[in-house]
Amino acid sequence: MHINQNKDNNKQTVKRVLVKMVKICCLGAGYVGGPTMAVIALKCPDVEVVVVDITSARINAWNSEQLPIYEPGLDDVVKESRGRNLFFSTDIEKHIGEADIVFVSVNTPTKTQGLGAGKAADLTYWESAARMIADVAKSDKIVVEKSTVPVKTAEAIEKILIHNSKGINFQILSNPEFLAEGTAIQDLFNPDRVLIGGRDTPEGKKAVQTLKEVYAHWVPEDRILTTNLWSAELSKLAANAFLAQRISSVNAISALCEATGANVSEVAYAVGKDARIGPKFLNASIGFGGSCFQKDILNLVYICECNGLPEVAQYWKSVIQINDYQKSRFVNRIVSSMFNTVANKKIAMLGFAFKKDTGDTRETPAIDVCNGLLGDKANICIYDPQVTQDQIERDLAMNKFDWDHPTHLQPTSPMAVKKQVTVSSDAYSATKDAHGVCIVTEWDEFKTLDFTRIYEGMQKPAFVFDGRNVVNPEKLRQIGFIVYSIGKPLDLWMKDMPAVA
Ligand SMILES: NC(=O)c1ccc[n+]([C@@H]2O[C@H](COP(=O)([O-])OP(=O)(O)OC[C@H]3O[C@@H](n4cnc5c(N)ncnc54)[C@H](O)[C@@H]3O)[C@@H](O)[C@H]2O)c1
Ligand SMILES: *[C@@H]1O[C@H](CO)[C@@H](O)[C@H](O)[C@H]1NC(C)=O
Ligand SMILES: *[C@@H]1O[C@H](CO)[C@@H](O)[C@H](O)[C@H]1NC(C)=O
Repeated sequence: MHINQNKDNNKQTVKRVLVKMVKICCLGAGYVGGPTMAVIALKCPDVEVVVVDITSARINAWNSEQLPIYEPGLDDVVKESRGRNLFFSTDIEKHIGEADIVFVSVNTPTKTQGLGAGKAADLTYWESAARMIADVAKSDKIVVEKSTVPVKTAEAIEKILIHNSKGINFQILSNPEFLAEGTAIQDLFNPDRVLIGGRDTPEGKKAVQTLKEVYAHWVPEDRILTTNLWSAELSKLAANAFLAQRISSVNAISALCEATGANVSEVAYAVGKDARIGPKFLNASIGFGGSCFQKDILNLVYICECNGLPEVAQYWKSVIQINDYQKSRFVNRIVSSMFNTVANKKIAMLGFAFKKDTGDTRETPAIDVCNGLLGDKANICIYDPQVTQDQIERDLAMNKFDWDHPTHLQPTSPMAVKKQVTVSSDAYSATKDAHGVCIVTEWDEFKTLDFTRIYEGMQKPAFVFDGRNVVNPEKLRQIGFIVYSIGKPLDLWMKDMPAVA
């Protein structure tokens, strides 16, 4: 609750007595819980924020100099508030007990077994969080859905809370997070909108108002939207589906550009000039990744199917199908250009994260490209400025969907870490003696690499496969490279080679 700045000291004392300090507890210290709570603590010095997690290694890292996630600007935000009104703890019960507002930002993986396997959200972690809240609560609480969840989850959570409530009043709100990794701090400081869904009852409205006051510390009122619970839940799924659809749309066009001699950058620019379409998020690439897009669309598809809407389900499913097609098209280009085999050839992979300015590798297209090349027996040497060797090895040994569990609960695959994969600490050693280089993440540093030096160190003919359109293909061709850029007029070398197997 906002304490008004008041020059009259007496009045302020009265206010302080009446309005106790708001306490927030957040379950889940991940990519969402950590940065979101750090920004709330920074912007609301009168609110105490404690982030808790069942993974103690994560909490330890949040309390250390080396934060568990890489995000530009995050270090400064955390350092400013940590120990003042921002705390990270494993004592979940204590902090839930003391909190007025409990955010839940735990994993919501895709189910791998049972009803809805491969599509539906697995709400195990969410349900256990709700049961824990009901168990330890001794005072009224506002419970905020921060995780992305299927529509009507709030209703289910409400039932768990109410049936275990011992007379305590719980209000459930949906407050989906729209931050984008890589720009999370900027997005949180200056959100396009904050969305709060709640019940249309006097208690529900009061809860919405309380949460609104937290955000109103720094977000203009007209950007705080309030809706009913289901609209808020569905808006998050719909927003991610629209974003992913833009990428699949431009990627679908990129395949046609290659076949016709059009240039996808020119096409996207011309299309984006239409004010109804707009210029953003129209870069052709090897495909989208990240923890959310695919998962949220699968979830949307499942909800459509459950509601008897197979045509709508198929429409959104095709966004994922194009994304998979784009990744396999890229692998096929590599293999077919290199005399139809990459067996025992060294391929350098520049980048591994799913996009620049993050160390996050969840659902990164790099995994599918690696697996495709490994299937053809390539030797791969990877360099990414923010991803560790340990993470890369885990990612390549993991089964589909297994990444979305707390680290200590991730199933370990029996598959041995592949000997065909090595990890390098810079781009020049990664590319040394390689036959081909593929660029899979658009890190800024890849734009300024010395490609003459790289060319000299490589086997000939030397290939560059640019999955993010970061290099200038003409310049590289002048050096001597054979270059493939997504959606660009093809190198003569590739003209008659099949793009799709
Ligand atoms: N990453 C994004 O960019 C993004 C953006 C918007 C929404 N989301 C959604 O937010 C949610 C969290 O995503 P994330 O990327 O932060 O995931 P994450 O895996 O980084 O973090 C989740 C954390 O929750 C912890 N956890 C699980 N069960 C718990 C429990 N019962 N009590 C306490 N902690 C528990 C895990 O140990 C883990 O550290 C997901 O639903 C995701 O879909 C993510
Ligand atoms: C594609 O178009 C962009 C934007 O006009 C231009 O900068 C680039 O040189 C073009 N690429 C090729 C290979 O024609
Ligand atoms: C996307 O394209 C725009 C316009 O061509 C460019 O300015 C921007 O840097 C590109 N983004 C990425 C991530 O490559």
